[in-house]
Amino acid sequence: MSLEKATALDAADPLAFARDRFHLPDGVIYLDGNSLGALPKDAPARLADVVERQWGEDLISSWNTHGWIDWPHHIAAKLAPLVGADPDELLITDSTSICLFKLIVSAFRARPGRNVILTEAGNFPTDNYIMQGIAALLPKAELRVVERADLTKAIDADTAVLSLTHVDYRGGERLEMAAIDTAAREAGALSVWDLSHSAGLIALDLHASGCELAVGCGYKYLNGGPGAPAFLYVASHLQEELQSPLTGWMGHADPFAFAGEYRPADGIRKFLTGTPSILALAALDAGLDTFADIDMALVEDKAEGLTGFFIESVTELSGIDLSAQSDRPQRGGHVVVPHEHGYAVMRALIERGVIGDFRAPDLIRFGFAPLYNTFKDAWGAAELLADILRSKSWQDPRFATREKVT
Ligand SMILES: Cc1ncc(COP(=O)(O)O)c(C=O)c1O
Repeated sequence: MSLEKATALDAADPLAFARDRFHLPDGVIYLDGNSLGALPKDAPARLADVVERQWGEDLISSWNTHGWIDWPHHIAAKLAPLVGADPDELLITDSTSICLFKLIVSAFRARPGRNVILTEAGNFPTDNYIMQGIAALLPKAELRVVERADLTKAIDADTAVLSLTHVDYRGGERLEMAAIDTAAREAGALSVWDLSHSAGLIALDLHASGCELAVGCGYKYLNGGPGAPAFLYVASHLQEELQSPLTGWMGHADPFAFAGEYRPADGIRKFLTGTPSILALAALDAGLDTFADIDMALVEDKAEGLTGFFIESVTELSGIDLSAQSDRPQRGGHVVVPHEHGYAVMRALIERGVIGDFRAPDLIRFGFAPLYNTFKDAWGAAELLADILRSKSWQDPRFATREKVT
């Protein structure tokens, strides 16, 4: 591994042109796109237009003239090719946590006679907190939490819903969605997938993998900005059967009739609840436009290339054994380096311009966003990490104090 090799890999990168779609601060190697994607260059002007012209000048009429009312649906159409779904199977709405609540409850209710919601212990915390809340809310529901290795054999005739995250937020391990979905379906259960670490990174084909229900966030690889709305996916064949548990007016068949009784809208729209956040949707729209003319197969290939190159570089320069991640046939887009003083090491890295993040208790996490990260970024981060570990500069007392790191 070397800078020359990184330079050669960048020169051969078919996605190199996409980096120019983003604003990246000078002197920074940004490896946190799996927590907050970089700013799309078009986003400020897009937001300014929505604020100044649409809101400022056109005021309330913008709900119609600029089609705001349809944005949750309309903008979802840009996500459809990225995840291998039809536009009518997606909505951009709420947060990931709320979308999970909606889909898990609606799936649970669609499987009467079964009482178990199944997940794995290592799932992302909010997912499991939402499931704990659902189990407390629904009289008969029981949350069953098993180890990852025991998942498929834990699916049985009592399982109503299985909910999992596709790419693990710590180690980047990718679960076998198609195989797990098949096992769940054969047992008569429904599965809800969290695609927060997959959408915009992996060439998802939700139809081909048999995925029926999914959610994901908009602020990581989709570049939708801090707190961007999430998305939810309901396969078309389930839309009639499933009902949203959060029955707000935006999911009503005729919201502006102001009728006394709730009546669900047809299709995916019934999963809307309240008024969409237009400014946040405008930013996510710009984020999704960074994928225009991008082949997701190339994105996935590059993610594998970047993470593989980074793993080899770290091993070579720092002697850290990351073989558990390199041997994995399928990785997501991030690599974690375990270190007892990982928090301080990450603080030292950030001070010198390499921005990644830290996941308790001891994981230094580097996320690679193929649209804008380069092989030179990967090499530069590995070199700096080696330098910080060699010089022990992480021992600077300033890095010992915990600040909140996202
Ligand atoms: C897998 C996963 N699910 C959910 C979330 C967060 O959910 P929300 O968007 O509701 O904050 C994250 C945040 O990092 C995540 O990694």
